[in-house]
Amino acid sequence: MKVMTIFGTRPEAVKMAPVIKELARRADRFAVVVTVTAQHREMLDQTLEHFHIRPDHDLNVMQERQSLTQIALRALDGLDAVLAQESPDFVLVHGDTSTTFIGCLAAFYHGIPTGHVEAGLRTGDKYSPFPEEMNRRLTGAIADLHFAPTDWARANLLAEGVPAERIFVTGNTAIDALFLTVDPGHRFARPELNRLAAGRRLVLVDSLHRRENFGEAMERIYRSLARLARETPGIELVFLLHKNPEAREVGLRHLSGLPGVHLLEPMDYPDWVNLMARAYLVISDSGGIQEEAPSLGTPVLLLRDKTERPEAIEAGTVRMVGTDEGRILAAVTELLANPAAHRAMAQAKNPYGDGRAAQRIADAIETYFGLSKQVAK
Ligand code: UD1
Repeated sequence: MKVMTIFGTRPEAVKMAPVIKELARRADRFAVVVTVTAQHREMLDQTLEHFHIRPDHDLNVMQERQSLTQIALRALDGLDAVLAQESPDFVLVHGDTSTTFIGCLAAFYHGIPTGHVEAGLRTGDKYSPFPEEMNRRLTGAIADLHFAPTDWARANLLAEGVPAERIFVTGNTAIDALFLTVDPGHRFARPELNRLAAGRRLVLVDSLHRRENFGEAMERIYRSLARLARETPGIELVFLLHKNPEAREVGLRHLSGLPGVHLLEPMDYPDWVNLMARAYLVISDSGGIQEEAPSLGTPVLLLRDKTERPEAIEAGTVRMVGTDEGRILAAVTELLANPAAHRAMAQAKNPYGDGRAAQRIADAIETYFGLSKQVAK
């Protein structure tokens, strides 16, 4: 069975990598074709390198300050040709980016069945996160098989009328990728990080890049981070710049030159997860970090008003603090001042899986398409 994976951004690459590896391991049953839109460039390439994945097709769609429409058009056009050439039996997409939706749509236009990895996440608000909530809903409407990370995600799909036999609860492949990468003896590529990690309490701020936060909310977030740096002794604030120019400009404007603040270019995935493992807490607007940090024992403060990952909040590993300046500061200060509050978050159990999601996905594809039986014959 020829399976084509289609993805385009760093997080999709991280979470698709374990699936690609698992399918490739079952070479008697699967031929894997890797297609990347390259909606991201450097950030994607670093990740592919880490997992030793060489794409068979690279559409190279990224352009400086690309609009959503441009990504969608260029990806759809490029995928049309690749799908016509390869004619795969099954297409796998991951998550909620523009590439996810367009990849699924392109396969559908070619009459090719599709599977959605990390299916069923919902905030219920089509504008938040924007455009991701709509991307995953539209993908869910097209996909034939749905790999839901949790029972909650499965319930969302059932409520939308997806037949039960097409949904598989697998855990999240982010945890598989994490287990392949976290290493207590990890040495960082940048020497300053080795020194930092060994030193004072590390507050890690992840590349804030949500489109719905651009503007006033982003200004509030950065004002609170600047105050945190000025008013809190004993911390190192490590800030990961995103490649998105709109997101990074605000960060640079508010945080450059402040004491204890380190503004770093996006680092590769192994450095990133190992740094997260050593951080005292993470401040983020990202989706995936809510899944990863609990496996690393690192509390997350989420700078959003809505989440598609309520399991992490219920488990107590993530707290949603929104974008209000006072609330952000109060939440960080509490975790720094109150070890019991920190411990309660750090020790909560990760609801997102056990590192075997990719195996379950491969098993589900085999079962659904009757491959195990065919091979046994
Ligand atoms: C995208 C996804 C988002 C995902 C995020 C992960 C969409 C609409 N958004 O957001 O769901 O959470 O990736 O990071 O699919 N850039 C570079 N080099 C890179 C990557 C980006 O220069 O390696 C710059 C480009 O100027 C690009 C801009 O960043 O125009 C924005 O990238 P884009 O993919 O449009 O959106 P993200 O904000 O990265």
